[in-house]
Amino acid sequence: MTWAVVPAAGRGTRFGAPLPKQYLALAGRLVIEHSLRAVLDHPGVDGAVVALAPGDDDWPGWREVGGKPVLTCTGGAERADSVLAALHALPASLDEQQWVLVHDAARPCLHRDDLARLLELGQADPVGALLAAPVRDTLKRADDQGHSQATEPRESLWRALTPQLFRRGGLTRALEAARRAGAAVTDEAMAMERLGLKPRLVEGREDNLKITTPADLALAEFILSRSSE
Ligand code: C5P
Repeated sequence: MTWAVVPAAGRGTRFGAPLPKQYLALAGRLVIEHSLRAVLDHPGVDGAVVALAPGDDDWPGWREVGGKPVLTCTGGAERADSVLAALHALPASLDEQQWVLVHDAARPCLHRDDLARLLELGQADPVGALLAAPVRDTLKRADDQGHSQATEPRESLWRALTPQLFRRGGLTRALEAARRAGAAVTDEAMAMERLGLKPRLVEGREDNLKITTPADLALAEFILSRSSE
């Protein structure tokens, strides 16, 4: 059994819209509905827990999406807190060894082929895996005054995407350890790395973008129109 955890407790302040970005309309659906359907459409994914901001009035109250159960919980101040809350809200029947897919509510363009490859390669790895894209731009390190002081070699650098796939028990322990240490972890893989574990990088499509600005929404509309062709 594999469940998805969908952190959706962000307020999306960078976007500047009155609604959190996961509730904006995109190609006839809400952004979060695309993200949920993208993971739940896979036959190997059995349900999802969505972490919502306290007092979230915009969540449509779905109990199922695409015929699969959707549970909710209250998220936390940081993304990692929301993921941890959702891990605790997973059905008790999902034991420690079961795989959990963590997928941002704000990533509506996940392609089914990427998800299939992540599940196949991640479940064959002792630690787990994440979708990621190789860095293509030249990277500059800035000084305090905003001048470029060095160019970083990009050969071994990747951008972390979601979904990320880990076993329920291992991921819960890794996120709890990071919280106890007061370490700010910005994705699940980082929590695992802190324990000396090395998640597998599974190359994903560049167009699995995270909605951050209004331009991203327009781009996502275009990407979704092409992926349904
Ligand atoms: O803010 P950012 O775009 O990095 O958020 C990535 C995902 O994490 C979004 O889906 C957002 O709703 C979620 N999040 C959360 N709890 C927070 C902050 C972000 O669930 N405290």
